Amino acid sequence: MESSSGSVLWFTGLSGSGKTTTAQQLFNRLTAAGRPAELLDGDAIRTTIGKGLGFSREDRLENIRRIAYVANLLAKHGIVVIVSAITPYHEMRTYLRHHVNGYVEVYACCSLEVCESRDVKGLYAKARRQEIQSFTGISDAYDVPDRADIVIDTHRHAVEENVARIWDYLRQSPRIL
Ligand code: PPS
Ligand code: MG
Repeated sequence: MESSSGSVLWFTGLSGSGKTTTAQQLFNRLTAAGRPAELLDGDAIRTTIGKGLGFSREDRLENIRRIAYVANLLAKHGIVVIVSAITPYHEMRTYLRHHVNGYVEVYACCSLEVCESRDVKGLYAKARRQEIQSFTGISDAYDVPDRADIVIDTHRHAVEENVARIWDYLRQSPRIL
């Protein structure tokens, strides 16, 4: 695998759609292959550089802008950056397409019904009881991506299959792998 400039694989999708799980496995595979990689996950970001930000439209935009800034810094050094953050609005993804070097959008596609039935963190139940405001898919928008570079179906396909598909995509982009 020859060395090349970095790229930013940006996972977008509903809460519980499998962004983190898929991103983590892709990260493991890149690392095992000796490719320098970093993982920026929404939950970790929000306790560090995104601390204090909430889920209003403005705060979410600010959160995404901060992640984009860090992703660019890392990518500049040839690192494959993997981001997993809901990134719910078209406006954000248009921003990323213009401001993030080597931006590759990965849409973790899974119906709201399935995400809600998984409810790994119990957040959907809270959102339904209105204990959480502005919850993506329930009381805040998730604009379905219409320009994703890769769409993975996290309901019909296993994590390994989706990672393999992304891997194939990366291999066909000489700039990345
Ligand atoms: S965003 O919209 O891209 O800025 O969101 P992100 O930084 O990825 O944060 C999403 C995680 O925060 C938790 N959480 C919420 N998500 C959506 N809406 C509301 N109101 C909310 N409140 C808390 C949730 O754990 C999300 O993690 P994931 O991994 O997506 O389930
Ligand atoms: Mg997650």
